[in-house]
Amino acid sequence: MSHDPGKPGDSTRAVHGGERDRPASDAVTTPVFQTSTYWFKDSAELRAYQEGRLVRDEYGRYGNPTWRAVERKLADLEGADDAVLFASGMCAATTTFLALLPRGGHLIVTSDCYRRTRQFCNEYLTKLDVETTVIEPANVDKLASAIRPGSNLFFTESPTNPYLRVIDVREAARVCRAHGIRVVIDSTFATPVNHRALADGADLVLHSATKYLGGHNDLLAGAAAGSRELVGELRKAVGILGGCTDAHSAYLLLRGMKTLALRMQRHNETGLHVARTLEAHPRVRRVWYPGLASHPDHATATRIMHGFGGVVSFELDADLETTMRFIDRCRIPYIAPSLGGVESLIEMPVVMSYWDRPREERLRLGITDSLVRLSCGIEDADDLMADLEQALAGC
Ligand SMILES: Cc1ncc(COP(=O)(O)O)c(C=O)c1O
Repeated sequence: MSHDPGKPGDSTRAVHGGERDRPASDAVTTPVFQTSTYWFKDSAELRAYQEGRLVRDEYGRYGNPTWRAVERKLADLEGADDAVLFASGMCAATTTFLALLPRGGHLIVTSDCYRRTRQFCNEYLTKLDVETTVIEPANVDKLASAIRPGSNLFFTESPTNPYLRVIDVREAARVCRAHGIRVVIDSTFATPVNHRALADGADLVLHSATKYLGGHNDLLAGAAAGSRELVGELRKAVGILGGCTDAHSAYLLLRGMKTLALRMQRHNETGLHVARTLEAHPRVRRVWYPGLASHPDHATATRIMHGFGGVVSFELDADLETTMRFIDRCRIPYIAPSLGGVESLIEMPVVMSYWDRPREERLRLGITDSLVRLSCGIEDADDLMADLEQALAGC
């Protein structure tokens, strides 16, 4: 019922009022296109779209203008033809594997790797008879010897998690290309500010955009960037598998990415400062940071990276309980999983990610009882370092 004679009812107007025209907007920021579907003005428009004469959106799982702004921005930063967004970093990896690996295929991954990625290979890819070979990270000879007839994909993080191993992508790509194997680099820890894996010969770059790209510990998203053809395959897979991003998360990501270069500069400076100071501390047994000469991949990192990021892994000269006391005494970093945000986060991988695994398995993966992973945020470096020092002194 309408209170205004001659006009549609209140509910009809509540649903449709003010939204039937398609205004051009001069807004400085890209709006959140919070819609699940898109309307066609008539059947002729729908037909033009179906026949490829009109490029536009159809349904929310296939595309969204807010996502597209993020995708264009990431493609631009990575020097890629195109990029595609996913619901999470894991979704970027799983969709990529499912889209690019054939039944009975062969995948090569590295041992220092996000645990859930390895779990996907062991628990899900095996159902498609895809075999996974796990190799030591940053070792191109090991990569070459893992290749066999029918190998399809080499996937590695660079830097890796948690030991920050840095892959010589150019060498890996040279070896793989000779055998028709695609190289996929998870560049979450590097970001395009610190390393451009596509320029070094990778076929695809993946991101957990939850981390540095978003940068504010407030969203989950994933992304892939590469050639139009490969990204097109992944985009099609998103439409079928359904792991698309929410428009509001895409907006937060777009906003976060505007300060990526500024934030990375601070993360790089603080990471290096903290790594150097910890390395000289008597309570610290060892520090892993690609910017330190003591890191096994320092030479590669210095050659291919523009900065080494905000994640510093280190081992205390202490047992599990003492390391826990150290973590508990820290006042600035939150005890939390994740990394790459403005807030510093600290965790012991043994408790956070591997507590359910037998000790022998943990040690085989290098997850010792006193290993700490610190993601330096953008707080003042001196404040963060002073906090770590007081925690070390009191534990
Ligand atoms: C290197 C790396 N890749 C991928 C992921 C998965 O990303 P997400 O949590 O966004 O699914 C993570 C951690 O969560 C990670 O550290």
